Amino acid sequence: MIDELAGRRLVVCAGAGGVGKTTVSAALGLRLAGRGRRVAVVTIDPARRLASALGMHGLADQPQRVPAHELLGAGGELWALQLDAKATFDRLVTRYAPDEAARERVLGNRIYRHLSGAVAGAQEYMAVERLHELVEEGGYDHIVLDTPPATNALDFLDAPERITRFIEGRALRMLVRPGLAAGGLGWKILHAGSGTVLSLLERLTGAQLLRDVGDFLAGFEGMYGGFAERAMAVRRLLGSPEAAFVIVSAPEPDPLGQAVALAERLDAEGFPLLGVVLNRVHPLPPGGLPRAGALEAALADAGAHDPGALARHAAATLEERQTLGLRDLDAREGLTGAIGGRRVVEVPALAREPVELAGIAEVGAALGA
Ligand SMILES: Nc1ncnc2c1ncn2[C@@H]1O[C@H](COP(=O)(O)OP(=O)(O)O)[C@@H](O)[C@H]1O
Ligand SMILES: [Mg+2]
Repeated sequence: MIDELAGRRLVVCAGAGGVGKTTVSAALGLRLAGRGRRVAVVTIDPARRLASALGMHGLADQPQRVPAHELLGAGGELWALQLDAKATFDRLVTRYAPDEAARERVLGNRIYRHLSGAVAGAQEYMAVERLHELVEEGGYDHIVLDTPPATNALDFLDAPERITRFIEGRALRMLVRPGLAAGGLGWKILHAGSGTVLSLLERLTGAQLLRDVGDFLAGFEGMYGGFAERAMAVRRLLGSPEAAFVIVSAPEPDPLGQAVALAERLDAEGFPLLGVVLNRVHPLPPGGLPRAGALEAALADAGAHDPGALARHAAATLEERQTLGLRDLDAREGLTGAIGGRRVVEVPALAREPVELAGIAEVGAALGA
């Protein structure tokens, strides 16, 4: 999988919640930097998972160098940053505001200040936007995006469209339209319509909120074009051969179902899917299950205190491993079939949680050449 990422500037790790996206993102970043590349890993996870995985105290909106030293190849650099959705949105507004007054009007608006937290998909959209900034700024051979812990993995792909639709939102724009395009039949209808909405909202929520909404939307006038263009550029970038999507899954029914749905969606919409990382796989016990008696005899030979009890205990453990191993083997086969024979890379369930660089390196090693 690492070889195949050579020419991909953008690597997006997506999948269900809790399957190991952050872990795999860190591991991919580390492996690529291990090949002497300059790599940035971007996370949105507010839980600081990436920071702890990389053995850092915290991350910021600006890239910080990861002290991976001996794990890096010659010339390799690993950087990490944690998305600050508000800061990203502020930069976006600053870029597209027609003038300083418009910029201040939006940045100082109460509705705007709550937007990133209030609108579904805003975090995801800002992650995509930040990705675009990093590509534009240049300097990285690879940028790995650890997608947010969304309840549904597909949310991420919808985010740019959803957020631009919200900002352009017909329902909300109706409220300010009359003032912007006065005259004509359309205006009269809109005015009548929004007048009702206005008076209703005014009663429900108070005049100030309403003025804020109107002001917010009027402030965005002249920026819609820029936002839409940006969203389209991001979409093009993610659909180009310079990007690669890596789906992360666990060998359990729910995340597997989401992984297959995500793969289908990526294919249908022309996003380049590289393969799936099946994480936390239980390997089958080597040599299969021991024959009854053989284990006890071997333990007795080794001088075990109570070979009978120990053998029964070991047999139960091995049987459990065998069951899990078979389940995971089945998951892998089902998954490979469902995603059209694309690459599935397995990462074993580690005995210890992969925190700190040593653990991440262990996951990275499993990702192949
Ligand atoms: N291969 C693995 N073996 C053991 N624990 C793992 C493995 N991969 C991830 N974990 C642990 O599982 C938890 C979830 O992983 P994380 O990368 O944060 O998932 P996500 O980003 O998809 O929510 C973390 O506690 C992590 O340390
Ligand atoms: Mg995560």
